[in-house]
Amino acid sequence: MVHSPVIAPPQPEDAGDWFDFLVAQQAEAYRGIVPDDFADRQRLQRDERVQELREKFAEPGTGRRLAAKVAGRIVGVVSVVDAPMDWETALGFVPAPEPRQLDRLYLHPEFRNRGLGSALLDAVDDGRDLYLWLVSANRAAQRFYRRHGFVDLDESHRAGQSWGGVAMHRMVRRRP
Ligand SMILES: CC(C)(COP(=O)(O)OP(=O)(O)OC[C@H]1O[C@@H](n2cnc3c(N)ncnc32)[C@H](O)[C@@H]1OP(=O)(O)O)[C@@H](O)C(=O)NCCC(=O)NCCS
Repeated sequence: MVHSPVIAPPQPEDAGDWFDFLVAQQAEAYRGIVPDDFADRQRLQRDERVQELREKFAEPGTGRRLAAKVAGRIVGVVSVVDAPMDWETALGFVPAPEPRQLDRLYLHPEFRNRGLGSALLDAVDDGRDLYLWLVSANRAAQRFYRRHGFVDLDESHRAGQSWGGVAMHRMVRRRP
């Protein structure tokens, strides 16, 4: 029997699971696009990242984060944060096209194509204009975002080393 995921803000004790889920899903979603050692490289920073997440989950500030769980196991994550992020400023991707960024949206493969991505996006959405970074080769996600009102910016940037320098661009959703 398939249970419906329960969607709720992550708690500090979810930080490790959130990190592991995200790295696993990114490695899966971008297999053949990013280097084979992508997940290993991400995991080198696990302790530091998990501590940061724990702090963010304890005090979300202006960030909005949600986890979808089934039987206590994370099957989807989404987050919206203020922009620009530090890495964007460091790399000169400023000014940000909008002050809010859809930072993460990842589902476990078994939970895709049944409306959960849309449900998470709706639940995290506070109605403000929003942009996101898309790995340009990720056509399925691009279709999903276009259906949700995002349009592609006419640009192509290269991701950092651990992402194998893949081409990325931003998509923006502006309310009329
Ligand atoms: C991109 C992603 C978040 C979309 O979430 P999702 O839950 O699969 O999205 P939805 O189910 O709402 O819609 C996806 C597809 O299912 C279909 N669909 C929507 N609701 C459905 C339902 N109730 N039953 C069956 N199909 C449904 C849609 O028509 C859509 O088809 P298409 O995009 O192939 O044309 C998800 O697929 C995912 O995590 N992908 C891997 C990670 C990733 O790429 N993240 C984006 C990083 S920027």
